[in-house]
Order: sequence, then C-alpha cells, then structure tokens
Amino acid sequence: MEMSKQFDVVVIGGGPGGYIAAIRAAQLGFNTACIDEWKNAKNGPAPGGTCTNVGCIPSKALLQSSEHYEHAGHAFAEHGIEVKGLGLNLGQMLARKDNVVKQNNEGILYLFKKNKVTFFHGRGSFVEGDANGYEIKVAGATEETISAKHIIVATGSNARELPGAPFDEKLILSNAGALAIDAVPAKLGVIGAGVIGLEMGSVWRRLGSEVSVLEALPTFLGAVDEQIAKEASKLFTKQGLKVSLGVKIGAITAGKSDVTVEYVDAAGAAQKAVFDKLIVSIGRIPNTIGLNAEGVGLQLDERGFIAVDGDCKTNLPNVWAVGDVVRGPMLAHKAEEEGVAVAERIAGQHGHVNFNTIPWVIYTSPEIAWVGKTEQQLKADGVAYKAGTFPFLANGRARALGDTSGMVKFLADAKTDEILGVHIVGPMASELISEAVVAMEFRASAEDIARICHAHPSLSEATKEAALAVDKRSLNF
Ligand code: FAD
Ligand code: NAI
Repeated sequence: MEMSKQFDVVVIGGGPGGYIAAIRAAQLGFNTACIDEWKNAKNGPAPGGTCTNVGCIPSKALLQSSEHYEHAGHAFAEHGIEVKGLGLNLGQMLARKDNVVKQNNEGILYLFKKNKVTFFHGRGSFVEGDANGYEIKVAGATEETISAKHIIVATGSNARELPGAPFDEKLILSNAGALAIDAVPAKLGVIGAGVIGLEMGSVWRRLGSEVSVLEALPTFLGAVDEQIAKEASKLFTKQGLKVSLGVKIGAITAGKSDVTVEYVDAAGAAQKAVFDKLIVSIGRIPNTIGLNAEGVGLQLDERGFIAVDGDCKTNLPNVWAVGDVVRGPMLAHKAEEEGVAVAERIAGQHGHVNFNTIPWVIYTSPEIAWVGKTEQQLKADGVAYKAGTFPFLANGRARALGDTSGMVKFLADAKTDEILGVHIVGPMASELISEAVVAMEFRASAEDIARICHAHPSLSEATKEAALAVDKRSLNF
C-alpha cells in the first residue's frame, strides 16, 4: 500500500488565516501543506478564501470603481473637469473586479511555490488522530489521505440566512451575489445595516440604485463611537442611503423578478416593500461543514465556533484553529495575525495577538476607522478620560482634495494621557488609522502624537491636531 504523504503542519483552509499560517510555518522550517476547496469559474483552485473571492478584495474593487463613477458624475465639475457622455459599462466593471480577484488567487499560488508549501485543491476532513499525529482526507479531483503532526483549522465563515428566505443568489443575495449583480437594480433592499450592508449599499447606490437598508437595532452602527456614528449617519443620509432602524422583519417572498419584504417599522406600523434585489447581510456563521469535527471529538462552542483558548489551541492535542471559525472579530487581518502566532507557537516561539489594537475599517465614503475603546465603552467602564476632536473641514489637504467631511477623535486617559481609542470618519480613514494603531501598540500618550512632526499638507495633520485637542490646544481650529 502507498504510504500517505507526511507533513509537519497541515492547514485546512486557504483564506487569510490559513494561507498566511502555512507560509509562516514553511518559513520556520516545517514541511507544510495547505488544503483549500474554493473553485474559480473554470473549477480551478482559487485560494484566498472569502476575503479574496467574495469579500475584502472584490468589494474594495467595486467600491473604487463605483466611487470613480460617482466622482465623474458629480465631483469633477467643481475641479473644472467637464465630463460629457458619461456611461456605465457594468460588465467591464465586474470583469475588472474578477480580474483583481484572479491576480490575488494567482499571487497566493505563487507564494505557496516560493515558500515550498504543498497545495491541495479539495476538501479536507479529519479521518483520525491522537497526540502522535492526524490523518486528513483530501477530496478533490482525486481522493487521498495525508498525515501531519500539527493541524491548523482555518475554515472561515459563511453568510447567515434569514429563516424562510434562503439565498438563491438571483433575488435574495448573500455577499457573493451582492458582488455580481449584472444589471443595476432600480430598487435594492438590504437587510442589516452592518459593514456589508453599508459597503454594498454604497456600491449600488453610487451606480444608480435606490437603496433601502432595514436594520433591527434601534441605533445606527452600535459598535462604533456614538459621535462618529452620528456624523456618518448624517453623511450617508445626505448621499441618499435610506436606513430604517428598529425594524422587525417578517415574511420575505421571492416572486419571478422581485422580492417582497414585510416588516414592522420602529413606530410599530406594518410595512411592505418590493425590491428588484435583496441583499441579506445580518452577520456570518463559522464554517465547519465537512470537516468531520465530531468524528475526532473536536469541540465547538455553543455558537458553533471551534472552541479555542487564548493561544488558538483546541481541545485536541496539536490541533489549532484561527480566523473567522473561532471567537473574536471576523476580520482578515485578525485571521492573519492568529495564523502567524500559531505557526510561531508550533515552533516553540511566543506568537502573540493584541486584541486591543485590532483596527476596524468600514470602506464607505467617507471611510470609518477606529481602534481601541469608544467613548460609550469608557463611560460604561467608569474610566476617566479626555477627548479631542478635529474636523477635516479645517485641514488644508482635505480642502484641496475636495473632501472635508468628518473628523478625527482621540480618547486619552485623564491621568496618564495614554491613548485609549482613536476614531475617524473621513477621507482615507483606513490609512490614517495605522498611526493610531502603532501609537497604541507602543502605549503612546496623546502628547506623543501631538509632538511628532507631520507632513504638511496632509490628512495626517488632522490626527496630530486631534491629539493636541485632547489638551484643548489644537492650532488650526
Ligand atoms: P476564509 O477567508 O473564509 O477562508 C476559509 C477558506 O477555507 C475558504 O477558502 C474555504 O473554501 C476553505 N474551506 C473551508 N472548509 C474547508 C475544508 N473542509 N477543506 C478545504 N477548504 C475548506 N475583512 C477585513 O479585514 N477587511 C475587509 O475589507 C473585509 N471585507 C469583507 C467584505 C465582505 C463582503 C465579506 C463577506 C467579508 C469581508 N471581510 C473583511 C471579512 C474577511 O473576509 C474574513 O474575516 C476573512 O476572510 C476570514 O479569513 P479566514 O481565513 O478565517 O476564512
Ligand atoms: P455585521 O455584524 O457587521 O452586521 C449585521 C447587521 O445586521 C447588524 O447591524 C445587526 O443588528 C443586523 N441584523 C441582524 N439580524 C437582523 C435581522 N433579523 N433583521 C434586521 N437586521 C438584522 O455583519 P455583516 O454586515 O453581515 O458582515 C459580516 C462580517 O464580515 C462583519 O461583522 C465583519 O466582521 C466582516 N466584514 C468586514 C468588512 C470590513 O472590515 N470592512 C467588510 C464586510 C464584512
């Protein structure tokens, strides 16, 4: 009988958690394999997971394209650029998005080769195992069994369905369908005003849809700093994004070419809305389908996530789990950090993920980005703090850009001045937040940022000014 292929480390899942873990494990000298089942349109391998195929990357490609379209339609005139005969070639826009995805898939396959990670295209599932090693079945074009001393599970997450309204990806869309609508819907419904709802709602609104977002909670972006969420809500409403809060969704009925959503609004009145397409973005659920977790006794928690400790160790010896399939924020960079930390722990090093300094970004226009505590959290925790804000309206670079919406907000400890949270709504917030992440990782004070020379004119001066504002001494406002 042919011996099964043996590896030191086998990673199941090739998303940002899995492929990065595999590369780091290989860098550390382990004979490493990564198994991923995602298929491209030609049934070929498409590693990169949700993030690369139907998440971070394609959504940002469409956000960029739709923003160009909106700017060409509205914003260029102010700069003295006259656009005549503006048209939308949605097919080309989607093809470009697909090409960006493909480049990323190919990039990961290249990185596997470069780092000598053996890639298997197919579904990986546990066959058997104990402290001495594990057997994993790989079911792809052919079936084979491989073995490993260490397993890293990075199987990600799937979109959550509403009961009674399964995704058909034609009328009722998950994130996958929302990124591939082939004609701009006149009326687009979105259930859930979270990250996906706002990003995808923005894309299709910019391209011409009338977008209505229905949200169960009574507050807009409850996890975001209240002042920032209020400012964002004002700006989105001005753009024409209609968000109804505090609704209770009832029956959803898919017709031939439209979807009817019955709901009770915040005032308690029964409502009925008809949409050409409906995006359901109400959160994601961990994916352990086909892994045969139960077969080897891999424990899940009560919400279906793989149960892990602070070091991403599962209940089974030498089995680890990272990314969306375990507790914590469902973010690509969180998955990557956990992947690196686990590979380093397997090598006997002290990999570490600092959950207090994981940045969040919502890629709307303006962008929303934050790190650390919100003002409402500090109040709830009884922490004495100082706050400083600076509006982009008073920033020269923002005026030159023609994008003066939003602000930077600093929250610092009242006694020690240590930065506790930084919140931004405004242009390039996704890039600006990095400075705050670095500062918080080094446990800097607001004064530290206030005393650092920032280039002029740049948006980052708003960060420095907000830090100065903590002690009520901003210079340009
Ligand atoms: P995944 O990326 O889900 O990868 C898991 C992989 O494992 C998949 O390829 C899957 O096919 C494979 N797999 C599963 N089971 C098996 C098996 N048994 N055998 C073999 N393969 C298997 N995060 C950000 O940080 N920034 C963003 O801008 C952002 N935008 C997003 C936009 C959208 C529309 C969505 C849906 C998500 C977005 N996210 C974003 C979240 C991000 O995509 C996830 O947090 C990230 O992909 C999690 O990585 P992961 O490696 O844990 O899992
Ligand atoms: P989400 O958790 O961000 O938002 C879901 C929203 O739906 C919440 O506001 C929730 O109150 C609401 N909701 C839940 N059930 C509902 C119901 N029955 N009726 C009406 N509203 C309901 O989840 P989302 O947008 O699906 O995204 C999933 C995850 O993917 C995000 O939490 C994030 O981790 C990740 N993501 C990250 C992005 C980024 O980093 N820029 C972009 C997109 C997704």
